[in-house]
Parts: sequence; C-alpha cells; structure tokens
Amino acid sequence: MSGKVYKWHKIAEGMEDLSFAPNNIALADLDGKKICIGKFQDKLFAFAYKCPHAGGIMADGWIDALGNVVCPLHRYKFSMLNGRNVSGEGYYLKHWPIEVREDGIYAGVDDKGLFSWL
Ligand code: FES
Repeated sequence: MSGKVYKWHKIAEGMEDLSFAPNNIALADLDGKKICIGKFQDKLFAFAYKCPHAGGIMADGWIDALGNVVCPLHRYKFSMLNGRNVSGEGYYLKHWPIEVREDGIYAGVDDKGLFSWL
C-alpha cells in the first residue's frame, strides 16, 4: 500500500458557493472546522485558518505572486501547495488537497492508519 488515503468532505457546492474576499481567500467548513480556501491561477488550495506560528488569521493575509500565502501578523510565508514555510522559520501550515468535482468541491482529510474505507 502506498500513498495517502483521504476521506473527501464536500466543502462547497461549486465555485459560486465560496465567497472570496479581495485577497482571493474564502472561508469554508471542513468537518466542522473553519479553514481557508485560497485561489491562485484558477486553482484552489485549502489551508488552516490560523497560522502555526502564533495564531495569526490566515484568512486576513494575502497570496503573493508565487502562490504562497502570507500571514498578516509577522508575514511568514507558506506554500499553499505543500504547507512549507518558504520564508524559512521552520513552521508548517496544515493544508488539504482539493478536488473540484461535478457535484461540488471537496477537501481530503488524511485518513492516517484508520482503515475505515475498507
Ligand atoms: S502568527 Fe503568523 S507569522 Fe506570526
């Protein structure tokens, strides 16, 4: 067995269901938890609502020209694709894969070791 197994949760019925702020970040609900959806070059990325550094509200941050999300509090930068702290402070932004399907937009939650899909 290889790769990650995800449990997919619908977070929106479609693009029109997500209200993006001028910073291209929308809020969504993932399994009862508030998360951010970032839009960059027509792609969607899901990441944590709060910054792993000191809890800055990522939804109030911004997306830079390379597709990193910048925390508004101390301006640490994170790749929306893999959560890497590209400005080098050693943190990691929790993020989730997104799938846009015909019947809605889904975010995948890592099912680590719970063999519940079998
Ligand atoms: S709280 Fe986000 S960079 Fe400090």
